[in-house]
Amino acid sequence: MTTSGKKTLDRALARTGACSRSVARAAIAAGRVQVNGRTVRDPDTWVDPVRDRLALDGSAAQAARKEVWMLHKPTGLVTTARDEHGRDTVYALLPPDLPWLAPVGRLDQDTSGLLLFTNDSDLAHSITEPATELAKTYEAECRGELGADALQQLAAGVLLADGPTRPARVERLGGDARTTRLRLVITEGRNRQVRRMLTAVGSRVLALHRTRIGPLQLGDLPVGACRRLDRAEVAALRAAVSAVPNRPRTNRGRAR
Ligand code: URA
Repeated sequence: MTTSGKKTLDRALARTGACSRSVARAAIAAGRVQVNGRTVRDPDTWVDPVRDRLALDGSAAQAARKEVWMLHKPTGLVTTARDEHGRDTVYALLPPDLPWLAPVGRLDQDTSGLLLFTNDSDLAHSITEPATELAKTYEAECRGELGADALQQLAAGVLLADGPTRPARVERLGGDARTTRLRLVITEGRNRQVRRMLTAVGSRVLALHRTRIGPLQLGDLPVGACRRLDRAEVAALRAAVSAVPNRPRTNRGRAR
């Protein structure tokens, strides 16, 4: 929440890029954060991110340069900063000297492919906001031979427990009597959406890989590697998310 440019201390600290919001709350409660030289222990204290001087562990917390990175996520890693079950996370693959970057949406542990990270929370919000309708492209290997009917259902929208899916672009890439390879382009990104869509048409995803988000392609980035987006790529991404279709904004089904 914000009021006239002010932010709660936890949010203001996270936005400097010093740490995640949950780490900020813990650090504030532990007395490690000063505002204008005074220790503040309530994360919900209102501060002015422009005028107030924030410090973490005695060092000034200044707004970091906005960065966007892409990672070629392998399967097996979870998309979170810290996993309560101790599983390996995608952060193991980011260079250690980066400012705090948050994942933009999520890929399942068993999904590979293009995952973005940024410290620009407004950009991240625009990318994941369902009303933006930013296209995400997946390649899926699915169980069984999916016929034209099933592909048509996927394209038209299938009914999931959290409502019907939006129309999608669906293309058969190959397969045989036991498996089908598909390319799906969806403009939302609910939890495990592609897997649930395939289950809804009587199949099951055996492997899932994201190749593209809006104008950004994973290209030949090796598995497990990451790179910073260049200016042109960030500009293309910003242009894509600002070309928002004329729809009411909603929080439902935040895209991944
Ligand atoms: N859809 C899924 O089912 N899983 C993902 O990781 C991404 C999209």
